[in-house]
Amino acid sequence: NNHIAEVQAFSSTNKEEIENFRIKYLGKKGVLNDFFAEFKNVPNDQKKEFGQVINTLKNAAQEKVDSLKEALESSTETKGVYGDLSRPGEVIPLGSRHPISIVKNKIIDIFLRIGFNVSEGPEMEDDWHNFTALNLPEYHPARDMQDTFFIQTNPDVLLRTHTSSVQVRYMENNKPPIRTISPGRVYRNEAISARSHCFFHQVEGLYVDKGVSFADLKQTLQYFTTEMFGKSKIRLRPSYFPFTEPSAEVDVYWGLETDADHRITKGTGWLEIGGCGMVDPNVLKNCGIDPEIYSGFAFGVGIDRIAMLLHQIPDIRMFSENDVRFLEQFKSAL
Ligand code: PHE
Repeated sequence: NNHIAEVQAFSSTNKEEIENFRIKYLGKKGVLNDFFAEFKNVPNDQKKEFGQVINTLKNAAQEKVDSLKEALESSTETKGVYGDLSRPGEVIPLGSRHPISIVKNKIIDIFLRIGFNVSEGPEMEDDWHNFTALNLPEYHPARDMQDTFFIQTNPDVLLRTHTSSVQVRYMENNKPPIRTISPGRVYRNEAISARSHCFFHQVEGLYVDKGVSFADLKQTLQYFTTEMFGKSKIRLRPSYFPFTEPSAEVDVYWGLETDADHRITKGTGWLEIGGCGMVDPNVLKNCGIDPEIYSGFAFGVGIDRIAMLLHQIPDIRMFSENDVRFLEQFKSAL
């Protein structure tokens, strides 16, 4: 009777366990055969009862083995070797694109549409491409405008302070007409605060051809800010860069509200997004382009700054802290 209870209680989905159970009860040297062997020693008056008990046990054991085997087979049919294929899949958590990449890609898209291509250059630069070719000879005071991280001096190797180094490389290797934008990371030895970091991101733009004028520059920047910010106006404030002449600072003002005539009624105020100007003839010459034949404009905008403005990010350090609570917020911003 103990055996009957054990047989009824047994359950398994493991092939080996079921087989061991079968051998234990129904095998040649199993419990049941022992009982059958015992049978002849049982006194006659008890034979009937004893026979009934072992038959019950035998049937119970056989039924148990059959039903467990059947259950096992039908479950391996749907599960196969890969588990149960009919179960709903597990959700794989998706990452999100970094806000700097989102804005960078948007800028690239905007300029691809008007015939610019994308060029890149090294983050570790030599003196020529970061300074000298850009009309900043040694001892030029304007070198102090950009606090430089030097990797090696004499000959100087440094972390590029701007992506203007890529325009030099591009002009050295390509003939006009040139229409290229160069996105990338730049480095400056500045105190880190909510508004400035020792590394950030720029997109440099360069257009060199016959007859390129300041009007082309202004129109290109206006097109860019309209695509980037929606209804917007730009303002060019006279400024100085050694590699452009004349030079200007680019401010943008975009509308949070516009009236029926599309005039901005409520806007952001003027916000600086970068610098620009007509490529200095000396720079063209340094890069093997004849300034008597060709002219060009260049501009550089800060990706971090634009991302902060667009997404209302209060602190530039958030871009590099790798806090997923911050990064996850850009899941839907692709
Ligand atoms: N390279 C300049 C800077 O980093 C920006 C700039 C680029 C200005 C091209 C004019 C033309 O400040």
